[in-house]
Amino acid sequence: MKPVIIGLLGLGTVGGGTVQVLKRNAAEITRRAGREIRIGLASSRNLERVRPLDLDGIRLVADPFQLVTDPEVDIVVELMGGIEPARELVMRALDAGKHVVTANKMLIALHGNEIFAKAQERGLMVAFEAAVAGGIPIIKALREGLAGNQVEWLAGIINGTCNFILTEMREKGRDFADVLKEAQVLGYAEADPTFDVGGIDAAHKLTILASIAFGIPLQFDKVSIEGIADIEAVDVGYAEALGYRIKLLGIARRSRAGIELRVHPTLIPERRLLANVNGVMNAVVVKGDAVGPTLYYGAGAGAEPTASSVVADLVDVARALTADPENRVPHLAFQASAIADIPVLARQDITSAYYLRLLAEDRPGVLADVTRILADQAISIEAILQKEARAGETRLPIILLTQPVRENDMDTAIRHIESLAAIHGPIRRIRVETLN
Ligand code: HSE
Repeated sequence: MKPVIIGLLGLGTVGGGTVQVLKRNAAEITRRAGREIRIGLASSRNLERVRPLDLDGIRLVADPFQLVTDPEVDIVVELMGGIEPARELVMRALDAGKHVVTANKMLIALHGNEIFAKAQERGLMVAFEAAVAGGIPIIKALREGLAGNQVEWLAGIINGTCNFILTEMREKGRDFADVLKEAQVLGYAEADPTFDVGGIDAAHKLTILASIAFGIPLQFDKVSIEGIADIEAVDVGYAEALGYRIKLLGIARRSRAGIELRVHPTLIPERRLLANVNGVMNAVVVKGDAVGPTLYYGAGAGAEPTASSVVADLVDVARALTADPENRVPHLAFQASAIADIPVLARQDITSAYYLRLLAEDRPGVLADVTRILADQAISIEAILQKEARAGETRLPIILLTQPVRENDMDTAIRHIESLAAIHGPIRRIRVETLN
């Protein structure tokens, strides 16, 4: 049978990995797909980066717009990242009748709705396994393996850079900036690393996971996002003393009132498997009503792990080329006509337990004032840890763990506590999830 010809946009970390994996495993991939999958054309902004690659048999094209309409190309693989020109190229590829495989989480999270609408209209496939959690086949698992379930919630460590930073801070007491620099050198971090530490990259991925889990449109603008830049070594230490680890989690949960979409640093009990996912590794827990909790773990970034997902998508698309569009797996797991408009909760309406760290004057009645304010908002305390004041100091840190509370009530309580004369500086608050 005639080979499937790929037009590859981008020869950076993931593009390079894809070339390598497709070449090295060509025979096995052909046996799986039923026909050869061959990169026919490639284009790259940075020709310097492509030199160490074996590009034998691949026609290098200077203009990516020419590549996406080339008659020889069956599938366009977009591995450039960023919005433009990636968005325009994907739309042009669809206009030209090409199927698309992409690893671009930002593109799917922000423009997926329009991209899938066009693909649907044209009877084309757009596959994006590599956009979430690198090499972990989480899209496939959610969209197909769990298709019999109502997903109740999912929680994931879906940014390798943040997990690497938090792990190094906890295990080696390393400095934030120094670890981030290492993640950049290793090729894990985004071109703009504030996307990693600010929680934006995780929010892109959560947007995609939530859409597939609940059959809702992609709604990045509704995700409550908080990054890890304010996490201090003392909080990592206090969390540990209380039996918790701090992880940047993406959480999507369905409740009677609507869907929670949030990314934030989170204390999780150290006995949970997710608490023990370290370094650049990613993991996602999905709780289905029929199956119960399931866990997916693996490399969330890097050249070949991400290429593993790109190539899996290529095999899927190659196999489905001859199937009727109506008989293919829908882009967002649910039939396009059945995507539901379930409300996404505003940040103030989300419920979560809290870790609070305050700096208080060491004198009678201060703790009573704090607990009275919490009681006024009906916030129950789960644990209190009071550290001794350092020699010569009159202020001491107090750490409180609360029961779950509506964010709005916690905002009010914190405002009142911060206005007490005996409390100094802002209160550090980090959400706590037991992941039961
Ligand atoms: N910057 C991302 C991460 C790369 O650190 O997880 C993979 O999407």
